[in-house]
Amino acid sequence: MQGTKIRVEPPGEKAKKIVEETQKYLSPSIQRNYPFVIKQGKGAILEDVDGNRYIDMNAGIAVLALGTAPDPVVKAIESQARKFIHYSYTDFYYENIVTLAKELIKITPGRFEKKVYYGNSGAEAVEAAIKLTRYHSKRPRFLAFIGAFHGRTMGAVSLTASKPAQVRGFSPLLSGVEHVPYPYCYRCPFHMSYPECNLYCVDYIKENLFQKYVPPDEVAAAFIEPIQGEGGYVVPPDGYFKKFFKLMKDNEIIVVDDEVQAGMGRTGKWFAIEHFGVEPDVILVAKALASGLPLSALVSRAELMSWPPGSHATTFGGNPVAVEAAIATIDTIRKMKLLDNAEKVGAYMMKRLKEIEEKHEIVGDVRGKGLMIGAEIVKNKKSKEPNPAGANKIVEYSWKHGVLLITAGISTLRFAPPLIITEDLAEKALDVIEEGIKEAGKN
Ligand SMILES: Cc1ncc(COP(=O)(O)O)c(C=O)c1O
Repeated sequence: MQGTKIRVEPPGEKAKKIVEETQKYLSPSIQRNYPFVIKQGKGAILEDVDGNRYIDMNAGIAVLALGTAPDPVVKAIESQARKFIHYSYTDFYYENIVTLAKELIKITPGRFEKKVYYGNSGAEAVEAAIKLTRYHSKRPRFLAFIGAFHGRTMGAVSLTASKPAQVRGFSPLLSGVEHVPYPYCYRCPFHMSYPECNLYCVDYIKENLFQKYVPPDEVAAAFIEPIQGEGGYVVPPDGYFKKFFKLMKDNEIIVVDDEVQAGMGRTGKWFAIEHFGVEPDVILVAKALASGLPLSALVSRAELMSWPPGSHATTFGGNPVAVEAAIATIDTIRKMKLLDNAEKVGAYMMKRLKEIEEKHEIVGDVRGKGLMIGAEIVKNKKSKEPNPAGANKIVEYSWKHGVLLITAGISTLRFAPPLIITEDLAEKALDVIEEGIKEAGKN
C-alpha cells in the first residue's frame, strides 16, 4: 500500500453502517474525533472499509511503533499462538516473561537492580503502582499533575485531571490525591516566564502544599508524565524535572514515571524521561510495548517490590503471545534503528511545523520531542485563546483528504505517527494538514 487515495468521501456507505451499529450496540461512553472505520493496513498506510487510503499520524494512539501489521510481530504472534496462548503467570511459570523482563530492565534508565510486574493496560500498570508505592512506603497520599492522564479505572482516574468528562459523576474518587500545576510554559498557571521564573512551579509545591496542608511524609508517590500526553503534548522546560525530583528525593517520595504514551522510543530515546537527566524509581510502559496486543509493565527499583505473595496479580497480565509481540517489537526497534528515525523524522516535522506556526495566525505553539509533537490551535497568537472548533476542523479536513490525525488537550493537534514513518510520507501528510490549517484560519 502506498500514499493516500480518497475514492469516496468518508464516511462511505460501509463506514456509515458500522458506525450506526456501533452506536446501537456498544457503550456510548467513548468519544471519537471522526468516523474512520479501518479495514486493514500496512506500515503507516491504512485503508478504510470503503477503500480509501490514509497516512497514519496516530499510530492507533501512540501504540503502533512499527506501524500496522508489522511482519516480525505477526510472525512472533503466530509462532507463540501455536505453542500456548495462555497459562496464567499468576499461578505458573513460562520463560518469555523473564526474557522480556531482562530487556525492559536493560532499556529503562537507571543502572540499579529492578523488578518487573506485568498487567494488560496502561491503567492496570498505574493501579499496580498506586498499590505498590502505598504498600512499600506505608504512606497514604499521592501527587499528580493538573492536565495529567493516567487512565480510567478508579485509582488511575483519581490521578487523572485532563477533562471534566473523565471524572464527572464518578466521585468519590481515591482519597489523598493532590494535583499540582504542570510546567506548561505556553500557558503558565502562574503567568510567569521561563527561565526568569526559576521554576517557581516546584517551589509552589513546597511552599503551598508541603508547608501548609500536605505533610510530605504522608506522600507515597508522585506520578509524572515526562511529556504530558492527553493533556496536550506539553513538554516541560529544561531543569524542571531535576528540581522536581530533588524535592521528591528530599522528602523520600517515590517518583512514578508514566511512559505509557511517551515511552518505547517515541521521543527518540527509549523513554522520554531520559531527555531530562533524571532517573525515576518506577517506570510504567504499555501502549507501544507489544505493538497493539494488550500488555503493560511496571519496572521498579527492586527494593520497592516488598509486597508479599498474594498481594497483587492478574489472570491475563504477561500473556505469552503479547510478551512475544513485545520481544519482537523491541528487537525490531533496535534492528531498524527506529530511535534514530524518530529523532530524524521528528526533527524534520518539527522544523516544518515551526514554519507553519510562523505563517498561520491560528497556530499558537509547536512543541515536542522526536515523534511526539503537539501544535496548539488558538483563536489568534495574541489572545492565545484555545480554539477547539479550529482544531476539530483541521482534523476533519485532514481525514477527508487522506491523513489520520487527532487532537489532545483542549485544542492541540497531536502528531504521533508510527516510528517507521519516512520523511516523504510525513511531508505528504503535513502538506494536507497545512491546507486544513489554512481552511480553518479563514473563519
Ligand atoms: C500517559 C498515560 N497513562 C495511562 C494511560 C492509560 O492506558 P490504557 O488506556 O491502556 O488504560 C494512557 C492512555 O492514553 C496514557 O496516555
